[in-house]
Amino acid sequence: MLLPNYMEAKTRNKKIYQKEQYHLAKHLKNKYQGKTFYLKTYGCQMNEHDSENIKAILCEMGFKEVDEIEKADLILLNTCSIRENAHNKAFGILGRIKHLKQQRKDILVGLCGCMAQEEDVVKTIMEKYHHLINFVVGTHNLYRIPIILDKSIENRQQEIEVFSREGNIIEDMPISRNSKYKAYVNIIYGCDKFCTYCIVPYTRGKQHSRDKEDILKEVTELVKQGYQEVTLLGQNVNAYGKDLDKGYGLSELLEDVAKTNIPRIRFVTSHPWDFTDDMIKVISKYSNIMPSIHLPVQSGNDRILKLMGRRYTKEEYLTLFHKLKKAKINCAISTDIIVGFPGESEAEFLDTLSLVKECKFDNAFTFIFSPRKGTPAAKLYDDITLEEKEERLQRLNNLVNKYFLENNKKLIGKTVDVLVEGVSLKDSNLLFGYTDTNKLINFKGPKDLIGQIIPVQVMEAKTWSLDGEYHV
Ligand code: 5AD
Ligand code: SF4
Repeated sequence: MLLPNYMEAKTRNKKIYQKEQYHLAKHLKNKYQGKTFYLKTYGCQMNEHDSENIKAILCEMGFKEVDEIEKADLILLNTCSIRENAHNKAFGILGRIKHLKQQRKDILVGLCGCMAQEEDVVKTIMEKYHHLINFVVGTHNLYRIPIILDKSIENRQQEIEVFSREGNIIEDMPISRNSKYKAYVNIIYGCDKFCTYCIVPYTRGKQHSRDKEDILKEVTELVKQGYQEVTLLGQNVNAYGKDLDKGYGLSELLEDVAKTNIPRIRFVTSHPWDFTDDMIKVISKYSNIMPSIHLPVQSGNDRILKLMGRRYTKEEYLTLFHKLKKAKINCAISTDIIVGFPGESEAEFLDTLSLVKECKFDNAFTFIFSPRKGTPAAKLYDDITLEEKEERLQRLNNLVNKYFLENNKKLIGKTVDVLVEGVSLKDSNLLFGYTDTNKLINFKGPKDLIGQIIPVQVMEAKTWSLDGEYHV
C-alpha cells in the first residue's frame, strides 16, 4: 500500500531522470484472455493520451475493450481533479458501478489519473469504497497497472499504489491511438508553475522533459504511418527542455518537428510567461505549425493575476497576444478564463471583460473558480456568492460567444484547409473535420476524403462550427 502525500508531491529537486523501457512480465501476457474492460476518461488531453496507453496495456494482458459498462469485467476510471465537478462526475458513476457490482460480485473496479494523487480521495476510497474499488494507481506509475491489477485479483484485497514523486520516464509503452490521422505526443510531464488555484503541480509532479531524440523518433514514425497531425502535449509545453539544461527548448524542438514534414503541428498548453521571441519566430517561419495557439489568460486584472501567481500583467499578456497575431498570419488564439477567484470585485471582473473585448478570442474555456484542497487559493477568504459567480460566468460567456460567431463569420466565402476526420455524428450525410485554425467544419463529400487535408469553402458560420462545401 503506497498512499499519496501532498508534502512530498510539492517538493522540487534537481533530480536527473533516467529512462526505462516498458515491458510486461511474461506471466501477465494474455493472462486475462476472454475478459473485457470499459475505460472511462475524464479531463484533459494528457488524460486522453494516458488512456491510449492504458488501453494498449490492457489488450496486451488479453482484455478486450467494450463500450458498454454493463458488459465489462473490468471497469477503470481515469480521473481528473481540476475542478469539483470533475470529482463529482467520477464519484457519480460509482453509484452505477455499485449497482452493477451487487449483481456481479466478480467485476473488478480500478481508479487511476489525477484523483488517485489526492490524499482525501484515497482516504475516502479506503474508508467508504473498500468493497467497491479494487485498485488505485497514480499518474506516475500507469505502467504498473498490470502488476497492481493482478495483485488485487490474486490477493483478493484492495491495492493502492500511488507515488507522490514522479519516477523515471517510461519509453515505448504500447499505444492504441484513438485516431489514424491525429496523434498526441508527450514532450513534457508535470508542472513547476504552481499557480495558486491549480492542483496539477501536485497531481502530475515536477516538470520533466522527454529527450528530443525520443520525441523526434515518435513523430518520424507517425509520419511513416501516414499521420497528418501531431499535438505536442504538456501541462506547460513552453517550459520544454528547461530541466534538461542542454540549451534546447521548445523553439528548437518545434523547428525539428516541423522539419519532419508532418503536415500539421499543434502544441498545448502554453504559459504566457515562458513564451519567447524565438518560439514566435519559429511558429511564423513554418507553415506546418498551425495558426492556432492556446494561450490561457485566466484574468484581465493585475491584482487577481498576482494572487493567482501567474507572473504577468494584463499589459504583458496583451503585448504577447498582439505580437503573436502580427507574426503568424491569420492566427487564431484561444484561452482559459476563471471567474470568481476569491475576493474578485465587480470592477476586477470588468477588467477581464475589457481584455476579452480587445482580444476577441477564437475560442475560450470559461470556469468558475473551484477551491482545490492543498492549493494556496483554497485558503483565501472569499466573500463572493455562488450566485454572483454564476452571473459573471454568464456575462462572460455571452461576450466570448459573440466573438466566436463574429470570427467565424469572417471566414464565409473563404476556402480553408480541412483535415477530414470522419462522418458527422449528428448527420450521417455529412463529413466533419478541423480547419488549420482548429475550427470544426461540416460539409458534404465522399467518404474517401477521410484522413486527407482538403480545401473546403466556408458557406455558413455558427458560434461553435462552420458549414462548408467541397468542390471536386
Ligand atoms: N478552478 C477553476 N478553474 C481552474 N482551472 C485550473 N484550476 C482551476 C480551479 N481550481 C482552469 C484554468 C486552466 C484550465 C485547464 O482549468 O483555466 O487553464
Ligand atoms: Fe485534470 Fe489537470 Fe489532471 Fe488533466 S492534468 S486530468 S486537467 S487535473
